[in-house]
Amino acid sequence: KKVLVIHGPNLNMLGLREPETYGSQTLADIDTAVKNRGAEHGVVVESFQSNSESAIVEKIQTLVDGDVHGVIINPAAFTHTSIAIRDALLLLSIPIVEVHLSNIYRREPFRHTSMVADVAVGQIAGFGKAGYLLAVQAMAGLI
Ligand code: DQA
Repeated sequence: KKVLVIHGPNLNMLGLREPETYGSQTLADIDTAVKNRGAEHGVVVESFQSNSESAIVEKIQTLVDGDVHGVIINPAAFTHTSIAIRDALLLLSIPIVEVHLSNIYRREPFRHTSMVADVAVGQIAGFGKAGYLLAVQAMAGLI
C-alpha cells in the first residue's frame, strides 16, 4: 500500500524556520523518519512539498484514479485559507489525515480554523515530527 505525505508552504525551511515552534529537524529528517515508520507497517511512503497552492491542488488531483491509498497532509498556512485545497481533497475517496507540527489551537486565533479538518479522518497537532509518525501509523490501520 502507498501513502502520500503532502507538505505545504515554508515547510522546506524546517530546521531554520522558528525552531522554537517547529523543532530543529529538517524536512528531509521528517521524510526519512516517516518512510521508515511506514516500512515498519508495510506501507510505502512518498512525499511532496510545495510552496504553491496550485501545485498542491494539481498533485491532489493526480490521486483521483491513482495508486495511492491514503494522504497525510500538513497544508501549513494554506490550512487556514485554502478552499481550493479543501475542494481538491473532496475529490478523493481515500482516507486523509491532517498533521501540524505545532498545536494550532494554542497559537494566534487565525490559526484556529482549518479548512481541511472536517474532510480528514482525524487531525494530529502539537507533537512536532512525532505527529507525522503517529499519522503514518494511524493511516496504516485505515488502509
Ligand atoms: C503548521 C501551522 C500553520 O499555522 C503554519 O502556517 C505552518 C505550519 C504546523 O505544522 O504547525 O506553516 O501547519
